[in-house]
Amino acid sequence: MSAAVQTTTAPRIAVLISGEGTNLQALLDAAAAGTIGGRVALVVSDRPQARGLERARQAGVDAVCVRPAEHTGRVAYEAALLDALLAQEPSLLVLAGFMRVLRGPVLERFAGRMLNIHPSLLPSYPGLDTHRRVLEAGERWHGATVHFVTPALDAGPRVIQYRLAVRADDTPETLAARVHVGEHIILPRAVGWFVDGRLAQRGDQAVLDGRPLAEPVTVEAGT
Ligand code: GRF
Repeated sequence: MSAAVQTTTAPRIAVLISGEGTNLQALLDAAAAGTIGGRVALVVSDRPQARGLERARQAGVDAVCVRPAEHTGRVAYEAALLDALLAQEPSLLVLAGFMRVLRGPVLERFAGRMLNIHPSLLPSYPGLDTHRRVLEAGERWHGATVHFVTPALDAGPRVIQYRLAVRADDTPETLAARVHVGEHIILPRAVGWFVDGRLAQRGDQAVLDGRPLAEPVTVEAGT
């Protein structure tokens, strides 16, 4: 198959971001290297200054901003977001540092086709500010989780986790940096499984290679 044909037939991935976009970059790199089968076809941000928009454009990927301030209310905003996404008819929607909760039409349209990366070992520490909360609680372990998105915040079926031991001298900043390293491993892996047809959501479980995952696949730091 020629490269041109591969480009047009590869499953299309849309990515929602709000900021730096290092996880987006990991996906762009994996797609460029051929380590995942799909291609990032569209990046949408809710913030015009998100550095991830620039990363997308540098990679030749359509990048648009859909600003909440230009829409009256959450429902109208989500409808506009859905319109932007459907322009590319993606088969998978990835939330990679998108700092808004989706509850309406996007969630319905992409049910079972929507992955999020969260910086904690879910179900522990859903929500914001996870690195500081983990340190304050004196936890020994921390990490990141890729999970399917459902209406319950950070509570959809878990697919894969990266796990690291918290160090005595860790700060929220060092932990964030160490967790990011793992995020860049597990997010492309989960996305690759999905676009290869190996990963699916069945009800409240993730299914990998036909087997329901009672626990997420775990990647240990340093392995
Ligand atoms: C990551 O820590 C991710 O887990 C969280 O937001 C952060 C995004 O980082 N949801 P980046 O924009 O991909 O660098």
